Amino acid sequence: MSNEWLDTIVVGRRDATARIVVLDLVGHGDAELPEFAAGAHVDVLVDSAAGLVRQYSLCGPPQDRTRYRLAVLAETASRGGSLGMHQLREGDRLRISHPRNRFGVSDRARRHLLVAGGIGITPLLAMAHALEARGAQYELHYCARSRAESAFVDELEHNPRVQLHFDDGPDDQRFGIAADIGPPDPETAIYVCGPGGFMDFVISSAHGAGWPAEAIHKERFAPVENADAHMDDGTFTVRLARTGGEYEVKEGESVLDALLAGGIDAPYSCQQGICGECIVRVLAGEPDHRDDILTDRERAEGMFTTCSSRAHSSILELDL
Ligand code: FES
Repeated sequence: MSNEWLDTIVVGRRDATARIVVLDLVGHGDAELPEFAAGAHVDVLVDSAAGLVRQYSLCGPPQDRTRYRLAVLAETASRGGSLGMHQLREGDRLRISHPRNRFGVSDRARRHLLVAGGIGITPLLAMAHALEARGAQYELHYCARSRAESAFVDELEHNPRVQLHFDDGPDDQRFGIAADIGPPDPETAIYVCGPGGFMDFVISSAHGAGWPAEAIHKERFAPVENADAHMDDGTFTVRLARTGGEYEVKEGESVLDALLAGGIDAPYSCQQGICGECIVRVLAGEPDHRDDILTDRERAEGMFTTCSSRAHSSILELDL
């Protein structure tokens, strides 16, 4: 992993709900933190001894360079990531990466519809802060099981641009594409973040209502379950254009695995096809895309995720 870590200190910690902790981080001394755009996330070195790294969205106002805010849901099946974050206390030190972003606010849209499911509020909250600051036209729809399980309700419920939708609330406040998103509009962008089932519902409903794929921006916290993900796995060769080196990618192995095993300093982070850190350009061969982050246009331009995608051709040449 090619990370230059930033050392931060936890200066604020509060339990926003029984399962969500909100953490405020500052740099050492009075140093400003690196700039970030709304929608960005950071890698967090949760446990340096175990090499445990997790990705969390920055949810504070992007214009505030004095601190970063994270909100972390305690996963029921935590493998140490969210549990470790919940154990942090004020004064603890935490290493994080520089912010990265593949979920930014569209420059082309004049109106922005933000649709959050549960903890998916985090990047969209940063977007709401940024859009509010620039006086842009936006709406935030925050869907959650209940008020008690929702973070940030106190700061959002009086904002006329925000609508809260609780599963245990009356029928007339439930989220629906027809009522809350409406018909396609070429000047509007939709942004979706939340659990997989929620995102699939919103995205497929929006497509069903006629919204084109380019209008829907999404960020997943977990890879899409794909029953076909390992079917037809064969062996193929990756050739690196800059060095001429060739590496065999075996069945069940990722391109990234093969490159790292070969001693190549390839970029990566999540290794699940959701962060975009491993994207490289394909120069020759036929890629078999299995990520959920590249748009059709990016794929057509030759972009490729080494951690999750493979090849249909026997040789794939990469710009590495
Ligand atoms: S390492 Fe995150 S998408 Fe590949």
